[in-house]
Amino acid sequence: MQHQAAAAAAEHGVESVKRQLCRLVTSSLSATAPGVDAEPMLEVSRPGFGDYQCNNAMSLFARIRGTGTTYQNPVAVGQAIANNLPPSDIVESTSVAGPGYVNIVISSDWIAERIQNMLIHGVKTWAPKLLVKRALLDFSSPNIAKEMHVGHIRSTIIGDTLARMFEFANVEVLRRNHVGDWGTQFGMLIQFLFEKFPNWEEVGNQAIGDLQSFYKASKTKFDEDEGFKGRAQQAVVRLQQGEDRYRAAWKNICQISRNEFDLVYKRLGVELEEKGESFYNPYIPPVLEEFTAKVVKKDGGFNYASTDLAALWYRLNVEKAEWIIYVTDVGQQQHFHKFFSAASMAGWLPDQNGKRYPKTSHVGFGLVLGPDGKRFRTRASEVVRLVDLLDEAESRCKAELKKRLTENGKIADWTDYELEKTSEIIGLGAVKYADLKNNRLTDYTFSFEQMLSDKGNTAVYLQYAHARICSIIRKAGKDIEKLKMSGSITCIHSDERTLGLHLIRFQEVVEQACTDLFPHYLCDYLYNLSEAFSKFYTNCPVIGSPEETSRLLLCEATAVVMRHCFYMLGITPVYKL
Ligand code: ARG
Repeated sequence: MQHQAAAAAAEHGVESVKRQLCRLVTSSLSATAPGVDAEPMLEVSRPGFGDYQCNNAMSLFARIRGTGTTYQNPVAVGQAIANNLPPSDIVESTSVAGPGYVNIVISSDWIAERIQNMLIHGVKTWAPKLLVKRALLDFSSPNIAKEMHVGHIRSTIIGDTLARMFEFANVEVLRRNHVGDWGTQFGMLIQFLFEKFPNWEEVGNQAIGDLQSFYKASKTKFDEDEGFKGRAQQAVVRLQQGEDRYRAAWKNICQISRNEFDLVYKRLGVELEEKGESFYNPYIPPVLEEFTAKVVKKDGGFNYASTDLAALWYRLNVEKAEWIIYVTDVGQQQHFHKFFSAASMAGWLPDQNGKRYPKTSHVGFGLVLGPDGKRFRTRASEVVRLVDLLDEAESRCKAELKKRLTENGKIADWTDYELEKTSEIIGLGAVKYADLKNNRLTDYTFSFEQMLSDKGNTAVYLQYAHARICSIIRKAGKDIEKLKMSGSITCIHSDERTLGLHLIRFQEVVEQACTDLFPHYLCDYLYNLSEAFSKFYTNCPVIGSPEETSRLLLCEATAVVMRHCFYMLGITPVYKL
C-alpha cells in the first residue's frame, strides 16, 4: 500500500499552481519584452480581483521605456502580458486593472479536476518540490543534567514541524539532537558524586536520584567552596583525558538525563537522533587548525562555538547535508550568524548563483510569556514543566468535552477510554498549535483559556471542524472510495469554487513554509481552509442535494488536506466529537 502510494506520487505528482502559472508568465514576459530578463511577480489576488495577480507590468515598463519600445504606458504592457500568456487549461480569463495589474482567473474545471486527481492518487501527489535532497535539522538540543525549559520545548515543536514538512516534500531529513553533554558542568557533577558517594559504582543511579536537585546541590557547593571548585576543574580535565572512572560517571549522568528527555519526546510524539556536543570532540582540533590558518584566532578552549564549527564540518563533509537548519531562541542569532560567516570565510559554503551553498539557516523564536506579560514561570518562579502543562491541558479538555456531551445528550455513546484518549489528543494538539500558529519570531502569551477555546484560530476549533466533515461523510452512507472513481467534482457555486481554489493552493503554501521556515503559514492556511469549508457548508446543501456526489467529494478532499496539515503540525486528528 505504502509502496503503491509512493509510486502514484512519483507518476502523478504535479507542480504547484503558482509554479505552473509562473511558467506561463515567464513565457509571456519574454514575448512581451524580448531580451529583458524579468522574474515573474505573481501573488494571490485580493478578493474580487481574480485569483492570482501578475505585477510585472509597472517595473517592466520602467525598464523598457525610452529604449524605442512601442508600449505607451504600464497598462499597455499589462495588456500585452495578458495577451501573450500561452494557451493553457489552467487559465479561464484575464483582465487588466489599475496601473497594469494582470488579474488571472483559474478555470473552475481545472480546479475540480486537480482535486479529483489528488483524491484518486493521494495527497502525496501534492508534495512540494524543493531544491535540496538532504537537510539537517538541529533542534530541541537541551543540556544534560539541566532542566529542559520552555525554549527547548518550542525548539522541539517547531523543529519537528519543519522536519515533517520537509519529509512531505520528499527531502531526507537528519533530525539532530545536539545535546549539551560536554560542558564544564560535568566536572562539578562528577566530583560531587565521587565525594558524596565514594562507592557510587555499587549504589548506581540511586546515588544521583533526582538529577535536577543533584545539579543544584553540586552547583551550590561549587559556588561556595573554593577547594571543591578546584577539584571540579581537575575532574573536567580527567574526564576529557578519558579516565575510565570519570567517563563511566559521565555516561551514567547522561543516561539519566536522556531517559527524562525521552519521556518528553515520547509524549510529544517527536523523533530525534542524538549526536551531542561530545560526539564532535575528535573533530575540534583539526577544524580549529584549519581555522587558525584561515580565519579566527584560536582560543584553545573546547567551547560552544568550536563545537559548532566541528559539527558543521561534520555535517557538510560526512553527512553531506545541503541545508543545515538550527532551531533556537532568537537570543542565539548572533552566535549563529557569526559562525556561518566564519564558515563562509573559510570557504566551506562557496558561492553558487549568488547564494551560499550548502545553505545554513538559523530559525529563531521568541519567548513564551505568562499572563503577567513576563517570562513564563511558575509561582515559585521555577521553570514550567511540560508534563504539568500537558496534564492540565488534557484534564481541562476532558472536563469541557464531558460537559458538552452531557449537554447535547451524546455522553452515552462514549466509553471512558474514548473520552480519555480524545482529551489527550486534543489537549496535546492545542498546546502545540498555540505555539506554531504565531510568527515564531514574536513572543506569545501562554493561555489555556485561549488555546482551548472552540472558537477562533485554535486546534480545538479545527478538530471540531474536521470531525464535523467526517460526520457528514458518515451520515451520507456512501462508499467514498467508490465515489472517488465513479463520481466527479464540479465547482459551480461560488463557495464551492472558493473552497476548491483554497484546496489546490495547499502545495504552494507548504512549499513557501519550507522555503521561509515558517510553520505559521501552514496554520493560517488550515484555519482559512476550515473557514472556507464552513461557508461552503452553510450555503451548499450536501446530503440529498442534486450535487451530493460532487459535494461529498469536496468534503472528503477538505478532510484529507486538513488531516495532512494536522500531521505536519504533529497533531493527531479526531474523527468524532
Ligand atoms: N544546547 C543549546 C542550548 O540549550 C542549544 C544547542 C543548539 N544547537 C547548536 N548546534 N548550537 O541553548
